[in-house]
Amino acid sequence: MKLVEKLIQNRILSKEEFVELLANTDAEDREILRKEAVRLREKYYGHDVYIRGLIEFTNYCRCDCYYCGIRRSNRQAERYRLTQEEILACCRAGYALGFRTFVLQGGEDPYFTDERICELVRAIKSSWPDCAVTLSIGEKEHSSYRLYRKAGADRYLLRHETASPAHYRRLHPPEQTPQRRRQCLWSLKELGYQVGAGFMVGSPYQTPENLADDLLFLHELSPQMAGIGPFIPHHQTPFSAFPAGTLRQTLLMVALTRLILPNALLPATTALGTIAPDGRERGVLAGANVVMPNLSPVGVRKQYALYDNKICTGDEAAECRACLQNRMRSIGYELAVDRGDFVPE
Ligand code: 5AD
Ligand code: FES
Repeated sequence: MKLVEKLIQNRILSKEEFVELLANTDAEDREILRKEAVRLREKYYGHDVYIRGLIEFTNYCRCDCYYCGIRRSNRQAERYRLTQEEILACCRAGYALGFRTFVLQGGEDPYFTDERICELVRAIKSSWPDCAVTLSIGEKEHSSYRLYRKAGADRYLLRHETASPAHYRRLHPPEQTPQRRRQCLWSLKELGYQVGAGFMVGSPYQTPENLADDLLFLHELSPQMAGIGPFIPHHQTPFSAFPAGTLRQTLLMVALTRLILPNALLPATTALGTIAPDGRERGVLAGANVVMPNLSPVGVRKQYALYDNKICTGDEAAECRACLQNRMRSIGYELAVDRGDFVPE
């Protein structure tokens, strides 16, 4: 049996088979995989596209990931942090625009102690009890994750970045270990978060074996969400001279992830929209069902630069929402005013 058919039937392949598939897919195979991904996506979520209001509330970061523009060693990054009042104002504006999930994303900023994070989560949940709060603030102790959960956090995004330990070590300094990353993800699952893992496509030194590991890791962890976007170089990082991941390979990885996690929440990422003008539409047409427009104040948007040429940094939240609504309608999908929770099988 052909590998593509085998995958569609069994929903999983061995590592060797995935490597072979990644090396040998032609345009026809990719179209078969894309169509199956769309079929599954529509089976669980119809033509709805969920929106998540992304609030990038601090770009201070104690991490030093080699790919990231806000890594601590980038002395040229202009740092900012929003006050609780500013963050709540973003939520207020977002709520009026139909957002029912707020994603608090930031660097690993020691100013935001567990106490401050919990206070923030409680404030959002008490003002907008019908909304989900997603945290995306990096690696923390199990005890911290437990406190945030108690304060009302519903979901947590922590991409695994790459599931191959040796590759992980090439993308991060020695103090950031693949073991700790995995441990955090399992902790989050155990605490009952809806968890989002994910990885970059085309990151430096990535091989087809690494991508096969990513798919197998997703199958093993079985997260409710998976963020997949192309690596894009940032000019002030050690990886400035590496090429960006390609649209084709990112779309293939999104489709393959949909086959493995048929009912997952998969964003068509901003990075995908950055490497191609219709990247996010193409992402949805490869099985994605979430978009994450920015609710951060326009005044700080440019400072949250993880990679070069990020889109939407000059647009107000309302413009972004309208723009995405048009984009999704143009391909037969509709933004939903909904928390957009995970649908169990
Ligand atoms: N290109 C693409 N994605 C990046 N991220 C960080 N830096 C880059 C980059 N240069 C992604 C990481 C991280 C998420 C918040 O952004 O995967 O988990
Ligand atoms: Fe932000 Fe189009 S989605 S301007």
